[in-house]
Amino acid sequence: MSKSDARCYVALDLPSVAEADAMVETLGDAVDSYKIGLQLLPIGGVELGQRLKARGKNVFYDFKFHDIGATVEKAARSVAGLKADLLTVHARPDVMRSAAKGRGERALKILGVTVLTSLDRQALIDIGYHETAESLVMRRVEQALEAGIDGVVSSPLEAAAIRAVVPDGFLVVTPGVRPKGADAGDQKRIATPSSALQSGASHLVIGRPITQAADPRAAALAIAKEMRGV
Ligand code: C5P
Repeated sequence: MSKSDARCYVALDLPSVAEADAMVETLGDAVDSYKIGLQLLPIGGVELGQRLKARGKNVFYDFKFHDIGATVEKAARSVAGLKADLLTVHARPDVMRSAAKGRGERALKILGVTVLTSLDRQALIDIGYHETAESLVMRRVEQALEAGIDGVVSSPLEAAAIRAVVPDGFLVVTPGVRPKGADAGDQKRIATPSSALQSGASHLVIGRPITQAADPRAAALAIAKEMRGV
């Protein structure tokens, strides 16, 4: 039986591709799926993702596109032409529709980032949103369904409310996951891997609890074991 769990995307938030490559070597068969984000994408992260795909790993490019529709459509088409499994865009209706159009029939799945977990009530008011994060998340989930994208990124604490209104195959991807006893870091609204899955998350994004652990491989294996128990 596999020791890993492909539903766990490890966030390779590291300063260089060389360090990311070393982390991938350390993790070996304990991890099947990787998320490459804004820190590495401008400095070789896309090429790193293509090498990971060639090794049979799942790859999530966390670009969080947010631009006019025509540009998002062409950008999504560019990413869909690469080998990759997941791509994020901001959950604005026109952005999501354009990304779905750009992706076309290709295998890439598009995720809408509902509301960044770093935005609290005051931060939302400051940028002109006078509804709660929870109601904004649910509005954007409805819009994601209408736009025809494949899923959303949300806090694990919103996963149950989202799961209740989306079809079975719709992806609910949650960062902000911390095993019991792990340092929360700057994440505020957190859940354990098993409780995130029980709430309806289809995939988890976990970074520092694995990449900053004294023994990253052991940390990844422990999380996979917890996930397989759900
Ligand atoms: O290290 P940690 O487990 O907190 O990493 C979480 C990852 O998920 C980071 O790459 C972060 O950018 C991403 N993320 C997040 N909250 C969101 C969207 C993405 O933490 N709302």
